Amino acid sequence: MLSYRHAFHAGNHADVLKHFVLLELLDYYNRKDKPWMYIDTHAGAGCYALDAEQAEKTSEFVDGVARLWDRDDLPAPLEAYVKAVRQFNPHGRLVFYPGSPALAMTVARPQDRLRLFELHPADTVSLQQTFSTEPDRVQVRKADGFSGLRSLLPPPSRRAVVLIDPPYEVKDDYRHAVDTLRDAMRRFPTGTYALWYPLLARPEARQLPERLAALGAESWLDVRLAVKGAPKDGFGMFGSGLFVINPPWVLPERLEAVMPWLVEVLGEDAEAGFDLEHHIE
Ligand SMILES: C[S@@+](CC[C@H](N)C(=O)[O-])C[C@H]1O[C@@H](n2cnc3c(N)ncnc32)[C@H](O)[C@@H]1O
Repeated sequence: MLSYRHAFHAGNHADVLKHFVLLELLDYYNRKDKPWMYIDTHAGAGCYALDAEQAEKTSEFVDGVARLWDRDDLPAPLEAYVKAVRQFNPHGRLVFYPGSPALAMTVARPQDRLRLFELHPADTVSLQQTFSTEPDRVQVRKADGFSGLRSLLPPPSRRAVVLIDPPYEVKDDYRHAVDTLRDAMRRFPTGTYALWYPLLARPEARQLPERLAALGAESWLDVRLAVKGAPKDGFGMFGSGLFVINPPWVLPERLEAVMPWLVEVLGEDAEAGFDLEHHIE
């Protein structure tokens, strides 16, 4: 079942959190010349037109990236993120939103490599088109990203950032995400892994933090942004989180500086807030 299309959600509050942290991870990896590999297990379509029918229907970007677009007081990590999004909007108006692979490409150097998995036929074609001029650096595979990741670890340069960003439209995604992380940590313990997850009332989502903690990673960080209080009827996403294994040591400090600002700008009611937990060896 592949009914999820990221085009409906491109640029929303969850993308803001996920994508600025992703750029922080890659920026840290760029401190060394040694090549890195970026692996996106659920890559999406690559780039999204915000005036296309799907994005317009929900207009989720209006309460996401659009709230940052004209601000002149962006904290540094968000300034880097908005600057990257501006590269796709050279005329100044927010019309295109880059997905995770396109954003990763903005900071990739000639020696770095992108490995992208996507299962939806139409999104795979878009992804292939987006990167058709980069056959040496970028490979797109129409394959299951959970099992595909296994085949790439450890990467030749022994440096990798992995984004695991399932749609969670089936509850098996929660189990697959945890199992995939466990397996990846065994194959390549020093990789940096970022798992995105939704804040939802459903039991699988509420149990996820506990299951992630049970993985026993030595260095980890968990950041959550709730844009509103949990809905009283128990339905609907009220925020999202990123669980990062082997985060850069500078990340907690960077997030402490950004998250209160983000809550103020993206918060939709008085119960908006953030949580940040970490243990870095
Ligand atoms: C949340 S979206 C990805 C968004 C993208 N990572 C970004 O941040 O721009 C999830 C994507 O995973 C795809 N997908 C679902 N199951 C998959 C699987 N097992 N392997 C690879 N892709 C999958 C969906 O078609 C969808 O495009």
